[in-house]
Amino acid sequence: MRNEPPREFYALHEIVRAARNNLSHQVWDYLVGGAETETTLKRNRAALDSVALRQRVLQDVSSVDCTGELLGRRLRLPLLLAPIGSLESFAEGGGATAARAAAEFGVCHMLSSVSQPSLEEVAASGDNMKIFQLYVRSDDAWVDDMVGRAVAAGYDAFAITVDVMHYSRRERDIAKRFDKTWNRRSLDDLRFQASFDWDRLARFKSKHDIPLFIKGIAEVDDALRCLELGVEGIYVSNHGGRQLDHGLGSADVLPDIVDAVDGRAAIVVDGGIYRGTDLVKAVALGADVVGVGRLLGFGIAAGGSAGVVRMLELLEDEVQTCLGLMGVTSLAEVDRSMLRQAPLVAQPGLLSAFPLINVPEPQY
Ligand SMILES: Cc1cc2nc3c(=O)[nH]c(=O)nc-3n(C[C@H](O)[C@H](O)[C@H](O)COP(=O)(O)O)c2cc1C
Repeated sequence: MRNEPPREFYALHEIVRAARNNLSHQVWDYLVGGAETETTLKRNRAALDSVALRQRVLQDVSSVDCTGELLGRRLRLPLLLAPIGSLESFAEGGGATAARAAAEFGVCHMLSSVSQPSLEEVAASGDNMKIFQLYVRSDDAWVDDMVGRAVAAGYDAFAITVDVMHYSRRERDIAKRFDKTWNRRSLDDLRFQASFDWDRLARFKSKHDIPLFIKGIAEVDDALRCLELGVEGIYVSNHGGRQLDHGLGSADVLPDIVDAVDGRAAIVVDGGIYRGTDLVKAVALGADVVGVGRLLGFGIAAGGSAGVVRMLELLEDEVQTCLGLMGVTSLAEVDRSMLRQAPLVAQPGLLSAFPLINVPEPQY
């Protein structure tokens, strides 16, 4: 692992290229890969790329506000660093390094339960908004213990990821016998994950007061069922195309879920959000906040905490540019009336958001 001090990065693709240079083939593929044919991953991009932005002119856009809010907390961008397992394979300090970047820049960090160091150490590394994300891999007593630890450490909210009921087949990892993922299906704890159901979620909600996000919602009916149980945050996600293959893109399912939830819970969305225009589109479609997974991976691999901060600065610059050129002065002003469906202009893929980049692909 080689995380050089961040050079001057002037565009996001330079961060992606530095990440590629710093990571082994195995870890790069673990970061960028999706399940099986990677169709869901490509659809995440296709769903965003097939939305065009409208432009109004002769507005005073000399000042543009890119801030957002989640559960009453002000954020410099409406963004959370999405949970990434094994974050320590990308840079020294793993989750703590990401938390420091979130605190320095002013966004929320959602910590993965399968990342190092401990949730207590990560919480102590920054005074940013923090959410602890859990894979339910043991019994109710264990879950209750994890909630107790998260509350004691000062996390603002808790999240349960529900789209990993079976571990997917990520063929980039399987082909290389990459230990992080390919043999996990044999572990006993995945049985708990596969059997976690609405009754156990109801038990959780009746026992714990901490605000709860359910991560991995892709259908209106499931979002409504979460609301019935009092869930505070609906996290629309297909795990970045890493779980169910041949699913829809996140931005395709988002509007119906936003309409059904109708302001009764916070809405987070992730999947393919790699540019400022993507963030603007997601907010216009009704998300309160976007999650970024692979962008976090690129930033941290390119330059540790400073690399993530630089990634966020460039993203913020892109959002500001986009809003100003659309003729609006804040993200609060964008809505679906400012979007149009439009034909794709390029083959969607993980790196199609970075047309200037040409990174070497591993051989299988
Ligand atoms: C390398 C990697 C590891 C991930 N680990 C987790 C995890 O531990 N928990 C979780 O809920 N989601 C995990 N995800 C999914 C992300 O939180 C997020 O949903 C996804 O990356 C969003 O798509 P994007 O990468 O296109 O932004 C992971 C994603 C990646 C790329």
